[in-house]
Parts: sequence; C-alpha cells; structure tokens
Amino acid sequence: MARRYVVTGRGGQVARSLIERVEHHSEIEIIPLARPDLDLADIGTIESTLVKARPELIISAAAYTAVDQAESDAAKAFLVNGAAINEIGRVATKLDVPIIHLSTDYVFSGNKTSPYHESDPVAPLSVYGQSKLEGERRLIASGADYVILRTAWVYSPFSKNFLRTMLHLAETRAELNVVADQCGNPTSALDIADAILTVAGNLLSSRDGRLRGIFHMAGSGEASWADFASEIFRMSVEMGGPSAIVHPIPTAQYPTPAPRPDNSRLDCSRLERIHGVRLPNWKIATATSLQRLLASGAR
Ligand SMILES: NC(=O)c1ccc[n+]([C@@H]2O[C@H](COP(=O)([O-])OP(=O)(O)OC[C@H]3O[C@@H](n4cnc5c(N)ncnc54)[C@H](OP(=O)(O)O)[C@@H]3O)[C@@H](O)[C@H]2O)c1
Repeated sequence: MARRYVVTGRGGQVARSLIERVEHHSEIEIIPLARPDLDLADIGTIESTLVKARPELIISAAAYTAVDQAESDAAKAFLVNGAAINEIGRVATKLDVPIIHLSTDYVFSGNKTSPYHESDPVAPLSVYGQSKLEGERRLIASGADYVILRTAWVYSPFSKNFLRTMLHLAETRAELNVVADQCGNPTSALDIADAILTVAGNLLSSRDGRLRGIFHMAGSGEASWADFASEIFRMSVEMGGPSAIVHPIPTAQYPTPAPRPDNSRLDCSRLERIHGVRLPNWKIATATSLQRLLASGAR
C-alpha cells in the first residue's frame, strides 16, 4: 500500500511540484488539501480535515506568502502562518505522525556577511518573517515530531514567482531595473519536492533524533536578483524566448512595503550531512523550469 502524505496548499509551487514528482513514486500517494476543505484562517476546520485525510506524514506547505500585503494584514498573516501551524502540530502529535514544515530565510535580518546557519540568531525584518518565525516556534512547542525546512527565493513553472515575472515583463519591456544588492540562493520548487520526499522517507524509517529539527534547504550557488534576471534572459535567448536588458539598481531605488534581508544566503551543509540531500545548482535548475515555461507558452 502506498504511503499517504498529506500536503497543505494544493495550488502552491511546492505542493504542485510534489504532486508532479510522485508520479515517479508509486509507493507514495500525495493527498493535497486546499480551501474550502482546509482553511488555515479557520482553525476549527483543521483537525477534522486532517484526521479525515488519514496522513502517515504531513507536509505543511500552505502559507500566507503575500510578503508586502502582510505589512497591513498582520493579524491574518499571524493566524495562517502562526496559530494554524500550532494547530497542525497539535493534530500531528495526536495522530502520532511526523510533519515537515516549510519556513523561510526571512526569519533573518540579513545583516550577516556570510551564509546563515540554523543556529544563527533570528531577527525578522517584516511581518511575514515574524509570522513565519511564530509558526516555527509554535510548531516546536506543540510537541510534534517535526522537521522545519527553511528555504528561499523559490521559483518553478507554477504559480507566481520571480522567473515568471521576469518572462512576463520581457514580453512588453526591453529594459528592466533589477535589485543588485540583495543576495540569496534561487531555489527550484521541483528540487524542494525531491528533497522533501527524501527527508520524509528518512523520518518514516528512523526515530533518530538527529533527523529532526531545523534545516536550511536552498539551491546551490548564489546570486543577486539582477544576476538571477540576467541568467534567465541569457538562457531564454538561447532557447528562443523573450529577453530584456537588466540594469542593476540598489534596493533604495525599489522601495517595497516589507523590507527584505540584504543577505538571504543559507548554509545547507547540515541537510546534506544528516539527510544526504543537496539541491542542484540554481542555474541548472532554472534552465529546467525555463525550458518548460517556454515550451508551454506560459509566462
Ligand atoms: N516562495 C518563496 O520564495 C518562499 C521562500 C521561502 C519560504 N517559502 C515558504 O515555502 C512554502 C511554500 O511556498 P510556495 O512558494 O509554494 O507558496 P505559494 O505558491 O504562495 O502557495 C501558498 C499556498 O498556500 C495557500 N494558502 C494561503 N492561505 C491559505 C489559507 N488560509 N488556507 C489554506 N491555504 C492557504 C495558497 O492557496 P491559494 O492559492 O488559494 O491562495 C497557496 O496554495 C511556504 O511556507 C512559504 O512560506 C516560500
């Protein structure tokens, strides 16, 4: 019988990538949940929906991810990213199933000059980052058997993300200003899905405490947003897709309601050492998503 992994956030990048990836794993069944069956803003619906789904493992990928909107909608962000994760953790504990929860580089201030380790002090700059940190803390306090995977700069052929935004803008604009003084690790949701499946298998096959806790999980190699955009367009031209000239600009020239960390780089060596997972280089992974987007005509 196939193992039942319940994933929250059915329409999101990570959930859609998981659904696609398990097509190659007949031993795993993904049960994706979404509104109206599972509304994280309606805490009272969470237990009955999760129990009915009979998970052997829960993948918590749904989140309030509108980073700028969260600045003026803090109560909702904390409800979905904080209180709901506490409830999912409580139900996971009651059902005695492990949970893999997605978190973010935005728990850090970005002031460090080298990649962040799991043990580095957290100091989120934005409401979104604070609400995701609240989710981490409440999941840990719930007593659940958990892994928290902090990731960053996620893109894929699905949903809304930087890669798709760049392609879309290049359809109508010849030149783009892109921030060059924030650096991070572009991360493919398809690679995140592969990593989650490996971590899930490890959790279900061993009770070893070292497999549990917080881990950083991002694409290999680093870039600024301007580097990322330039590479997208360099490859897009080779593949016959749209392109634009990238003008690097400082963050100060692109103000947003929510401040972003200047340094989002995550040191992922703990995940590799303990779970045997290392995500591919971001340029190789970007080519894969780009090829798919161009072939399908989607932007
Ligand atoms: N994207 C990034 O760059 C990034 C970076 C670091 C960490 N992360 C974390 O990684 C995880 C997955 O991110 P992603 O990029 O896959 O996110 P995404 O594409 O924005 O998808 C988020 C999903 O959550 C669902 N959702 C939002 N509010 C909900 C609610 N009240 N009840 C039920 N579902 C709700 C959304 O549903 P609708 O489609 O119906 O709105 C959507 O399906 C999240 O935990 C995120 O915080 C993402």
